[in-house]
Amino acid sequence: MKNSLDSLVKDAKVIAIVCNQWGDTGKGKFSEYFANNWADVVVSGTGGNNAGHTVKIEDQEFIFHLIPCGALNEKTANIIGNGTAVDPIVLMKEMDDLKKQGYSLNNIFISGDAHFITPLEIFFDIMEDKFSGIGTTCRGIGPSYAMKISRIGVRINDLFNEELFAEKLEKNLEKYLCIARNVYKLSDEQIADIFRHKNIGGDYLNGNKVDIKKIISVYQEAALKFKEKVTNTVYLINKMIYSGKNVLLEGAQGTLLSIEFGTYPYVTSSDCSITGLLQGCGINPSKLDLTFGIVKWPYMTRVGGGPFPTEISNESLDKGENKETEKRFKLDELLKAGDPVSLRRYLRIKGNESGATTGRPRRPGWIDLVALKWSLMQNGKDIIITKPDVCSELDEINMCFSYTYCGQDTYYDGQTFEKGKMVHQFPTSANILSHCRPNYITLKGWKQAISKIETYEDLPKEMRIALEKTELETVASIRMISVGPERRQTIVK
Ligand code: GDP
Ligand code: IMO
Ligand code: MG
Repeated sequence: MKNSLDSLVKDAKVIAIVCNQWGDTGKGKFSEYFANNWADVVVSGTGGNNAGHTVKIEDQEFIFHLIPCGALNEKTANIIGNGTAVDPIVLMKEMDDLKKQGYSLNNIFISGDAHFITPLEIFFDIMEDKFSGIGTTCRGIGPSYAMKISRIGVRINDLFNEELFAEKLEKNLEKYLCIARNVYKLSDEQIADIFRHKNIGGDYLNGNKVDIKKIISVYQEAALKFKEKVTNTVYLINKMIYSGKNVLLEGAQGTLLSIEFGTYPYVTSSDCSITGLLQGCGINPSKLDLTFGIVKWPYMTRVGGGPFPTEISNESLDKGENKETEKRFKLDELLKAGDPVSLRRYLRIKGNESGATTGRPRRPGWIDLVALKWSLMQNGKDIIITKPDVCSELDEINMCFSYTYCGQDTYYDGQTFEKGKMVHQFPTSANILSHCRPNYITLKGWKQAISKIETYEDLPKEMRIALEKTELETVASIRMISVGPERRQTIVK
C-alpha cells in the first residue's frame, strides 16, 4: 500500500483534501490516512465545529470537529488555521476527550487570527435559522464569519486582552439583542429560551437576562488553558513548507456548500473549495502540489435544507427517524421493495448516514455529474471515490448527466430558462436548482461485496465500467477508492 501511495504522490510536498459534494464524504478518513502514511503536519483552514469527521481504525471510532484528524498520530503536527471559526469551549472538550484516551496533543497549534465563537453567535445562529430555514448546524458559524466580514469580529488573540475582549462582546450583545427585539420581535423570555437551547445550555442567564460577565469570564478561563498553543500559524506552516515537511491541508464541508460556489443561500459561510482552504491556511497557491477532491459514489448525500436534484424520495420521510427508529427496518426487505422510499431508507441505514455533528438524517440521492463537473473546475480533476460498498447489492445504479428545467420562465445567467430546457451547467441559484429534474444514465450494479478488495483490477467489472463512465463524462481522474470506513479499506489506483 505504501509503495502505491508513494507512486501516487511522487515528490508532492503540499497535498489538499477537499470535498466535491455537500460534505460528509470521508475527508476525515483520508486526512487520517495521509497523516498515518505521509503527512508531517495536517492543517485545517475553513469552518469550525459544524464539521464532523469520522475516523475508524479497527474497532475504534473517533469523531473530530475542530482538531485536525492527524491528532491520533503523535508525530504529526496539527494546525487550526487562520480561516477557521473556533468555539473555545468545544475545542477544550475535544482536547480533553482525546487526552483522556491517551493522546498527548503536544503538537497542536491554533491561529491567533482565527475568529471565534461565543454563546452570542450560537444564539444568533439558532434565531436566524428559525426564520431562514437553511438548516444550519446551529453552532454559531455563520454569525462568526458575518462579524469577521463586517470587521467587528473577535479573534483568538483578542481573548488575551481582557478589556478589549469584554468591550467587543458587550457591543456584540447589544447588536444581537437589538436585532432579536426589533427585527424578529422576540420578547426577553423568547430570547432567554434560545439561550436555554442545548447548544448553549442555559448557563449564561441570570433570570431572563443574558449574563455577559459570565460569558466573558468562562471564555477567558477556557482561553488560558490553550494559550500556549496559540501562534502565528501562517509563519509556522510556511516555515514547515520551506524546511521540506509533508503538509496536508484538511478541507471541511464541501464545495457545493461553499459561500462562493455552493447552492446559495443554502450554504455554509466560508469558501470550502480549494481556494478558500488555501486562504484559510495562509498558503500561497503556487505551493500546492496535489488536490484530491472526495466524491461519494454512486450515491451522495446532503444534510440540512437546500435543493438536491438527484435526491431519492424526499425529506419528509426523515421526520422523526433516527438511529433508534431505523432498527424497525430490515435491509433485505427494503432492497427487495425497491421503491424510492425504501431505497432512501436502505442507503441511509446501510451507509450509516446520520450527521456526525448533529445526528440529523442525511438525505441520499444519486451521483450528480453536473454538480461534480462544477466542483472539478474549482478543485481539479484528481478524485477519491468513497462509499461504493454501500451500493454493492443494488441491481442498478443511476448517474445524472443533465437536468431538465421544470419551473416558470425566468432569467438567469444571461439566458431565459423555459420549461423543458436542458441544463448542462450547474446553477448555483437554489431557486433555479430546485426546479431542475435529473436525467439519468442507468448502469448495471455489480452485485458483489467489495470491502475486502485491495486492487483496482480486482474490483467487479460492472463497477469499473461505471467508474470509467464517470471519468469519461466529467474528465475526472480517479486516484483512490475507499471500500469501507477503515483506514486499511483503501485502494490506490
Ligand atoms: P467527513 O465529514 O467528510 O469527514 O465525513 P463524515 O465522517 O462526516 O462521514 C463519512 C462517513 O462515511 C463516516 O461514517 C465514515 O466512517 C464513513 N466512510 C468513509 N469512507 C467510507 C467507505 O468507503 N465506505 C463506507 N461504508 N463508509 C465510509
Ligand atoms: P463536514 O466537514 C455536511 C451544512 C449544514 C447546513 C449548511 C449551513 O462534516 O463535511 P452551518 O452550520 O455551516 O452554517 O450550516 O451547511 N453543513 C454541513 N453538511 N457536512 C458538514 O461538514 C457541514 N457543515 C455544514 O447542514 O445545511
Ligand atoms: Mg462530516
